[in-house]
Amino acid sequence: MSDRPVLLLTRRLPEAVEKRASRDYNALLNADDSQYDACALISKSRQADAILTCSTEKFSADVIEQLDPRVCAIASFSVGYEHIDVTAASARGITVTNTPDVLTDATADVTLLCLLGAARRQHESTAMLREDRWGRWDATTLLGIHMSGKRLGILGMGRIGRAVAKRARAFNMEIHYSNRSRLSEELEDGATFHKNPEDMLQRAQLLSFHCPSTPQTRHFLNAKRIALLPDGAVVVNTARGDVVEDDALIEAVKSGKVSGVGLDVYEGEPDFHSGYLDLPNAFLLPHIGSATKDTRDAMGFRALDNLDAVFAGEDPEDKLK
Ligand code: DGY
Repeated sequence: MSDRPVLLLTRRLPEAVEKRASRDYNALLNADDSQYDACALISKSRQADAILTCSTEKFSADVIEQLDPRVCAIASFSVGYEHIDVTAASARGITVTNTPDVLTDATADVTLLCLLGAARRQHESTAMLREDRWGRWDATTLLGIHMSGKRLGILGMGRIGRAVAKRARAFNMEIHYSNRSRLSEELEDGATFHKNPEDMLQRAQLLSFHCPSTPQTRHFLNAKRIALLPDGAVVVNTARGDVVEDDALIEAVKSGKVSGVGLDVYEGEPDFHSGYLDLPNAFLLPHIGSATKDTRDAMGFRALDNLDAVFAGEDPEDKLK
């Protein structure tokens, strides 16, 4: 019997991450990547000292309450942590960590992909080819939105929001943002701050979400706020699906108020509102913001670094409060 701590991995993780986990811990892998519901999480915790999880597993206060008393840490393989009740975990003395920084660039890249995909009508263009409907080149078909010189509104100017702003500046876009607090001049880098997000919406010819999912941001983009956007705005979401009210956004695309959407995340994913599939100008991705090999390895290593710190009796770098 090894005296290494027992680490429960709730999902399959990249090979290099599982290898390191198995080297340093008595790792309980989820070899067939089966879905662990609340009951499974509670029963599997009976053997564990710590848990390495993803955003697909929900650690509600009720689940945390029933975890084995031995469990001293939950490390999430994600930057978002709305799936873990951190207050309930802290109350039980369980350290919770996430993986910031390492997925910033990958997620910002996918945001630009969504902006361009929606602005330049990627879905309709590719469909024309695949369905053999391409006639001759002409000067008036599939005209999209020129991003250069346009105003990009960013809700949530944390690491990812700023990385998106940096990329958008290379497209000569004018950056507007709203955030809980104004950034330093250096971090702002010429962007215009709007204390009231609704003021920003009125300026945002393209809008991108980079805020966490919280009770305050849930369904932020509703019909009333969509009405504030300039006509023909583009809406992109690579943050969390529930910041958008799907019915309202779909209706706005149908009416032409919003000219296109680029989405990587959906409320209730992997289920999502089927109305998006009927929109010709919806550029849709299946939550691949951080999906590069380098990034996923780095996320796993960061989660393991955090766990190593816990077992060394130190405060992990990414401890959540
Ligand atoms: C994150 O890290 O939060 C990604 O969205 C994956 O869950």
